[in-house]
Amino acid sequence: MGRRVFAEGRGPVLTDLDGNQYLDFAAGTLTQSLGHGHPEVVEALTAQARRLWNVHDSATPDRAALLELLARLLPEQLDTYALFSTGAEVVEAALRVVQATAEPGRNRIGAMRGGFHGKTTGARMLVHWDIGHQSFAGNSVLGYSAYCYRCPLELTRPSCGLRCASLVRRHITDKPNTSALVFEPVLGAAGVIVPPPGYWEQIADACHASGVLLVADEVLTGGGRTGTFLASEQFGVEPDLVTLSKGLASGFPFAVLAGRADLLRHPAASESGAYASTYAGNPLGIAAARATLEVIERDRLLERVRVLGELLHDRLSALAARFDNLGDVRGLGLLYGLEFVTDRQSRTPAPHIARAVYATALDLGLRVALGGHILRLAPPFTLDQPLLDEGVGLLEQAMERVLT
Ligand SMILES: Cc1ncc(COP(=O)(O)O)c(C=O)c1O
Repeated sequence: MGRRVFAEGRGPVLTDLDGNQYLDFAAGTLTQSLGHGHPEVVEALTAQARRLWNVHDSATPDRAALLELLARLLPEQLDTYALFSTGAEVVEAALRVVQATAEPGRNRIGAMRGGFHGKTTGARMLVHWDIGHQSFAGNSVLGYSAYCYRCPLELTRPSCGLRCASLVRRHITDKPNTSALVFEPVLGAAGVIVPPPGYWEQIADACHASGVLLVADEVLTGGGRTGTFLASEQFGVEPDLVTLSKGLASGFPFAVLAGRADLLRHPAASESGAYASTYAGNPLGIAAARATLEVIERDRLLERVRVLGELLHDRLSALAARFDNLGDVRGLGLLYGLEFVTDRQSRTPAPHIARAVYATALDLGLRVALGGHILRLAPPFTLDQPLLDEGVGLLEQAMERVLT
């Protein structure tokens, strides 16, 4: 696989040094909700670059405007915000709030199988699978994800009765020493695993009943990727804390911790400087986020994500009907996972096929994201139907070349 050297991005299209063009169905790294180089974001960043770059965590007019925008876009209970620069940094901040506010004795944190929360030490404590370095389980406890295509309990729906959810209750929420459950509503890095109806509702109810905080890691799903501003909204979950990053600022490093005021402003969590770091909430990141979110709100892009998402679902289901090696297609909004297998009967993961399809698609001019035997598709929200069809057409050609 030749290594591409990308030189430029415009909207959904990347250009490499040799002048070849690619439709970017990975949206950078799921960051480019508005595509690459959106003119209003470029303008906002350029104007900000002339004005002010860093005043630590001081107030600025743009910061106030961004907080108002977040209050409009996020569910009502999430009315307090702290600003950061990366996904891992904001996950660490959420863990600090949990630990500072937890009742004595509640010294464990719940996490989910297949969850990914970043590579810093606190975040790694919640990651129990091999992500290229040894995991470090620390003092977190693990719950069953609703990975129905490969049910860890070897059950099938609907006769399973969502046993995975009742086991989460038994292993995590019934334990008096658990302070919080940190979860991705839709598992992203593990391959876009979308739980069935009822799963999160049951777990959320159990958490509320036993005083376990719900910390939704929406670093990947937040900002509209699944068709609602938070994916949690579609699963009937009202989180106490939410982390957001990738889709917020068009690829500029930026992250938000949103939460209930009584947690974020709790005296034990909010002493002076508690939410500050060198680049946390810097004016350039704020400018990029504000411009990005204003366009998402003004142009009603969440509706567009839902409409395009349905088309994408139909197109990808047609591919699954045609190619036996495409074992499962699943997703929500403009976030899809394609799981490649050696055959449908055994469901044996086929990373070599996924890699070959990925490389061939790139040769043909389509960039997607590869992880093991799963390809992820997450195009910009600003795509139109002809380009969506063109992208899926390129993927189909790649699969024809590899599989027939
Ligand atoms: C759900 C989730 N949380 C946290 C992170 C970590 O973000 P970062 O790479 O910005 O540290 C990621 C990154 O992919 C993620 O998908």
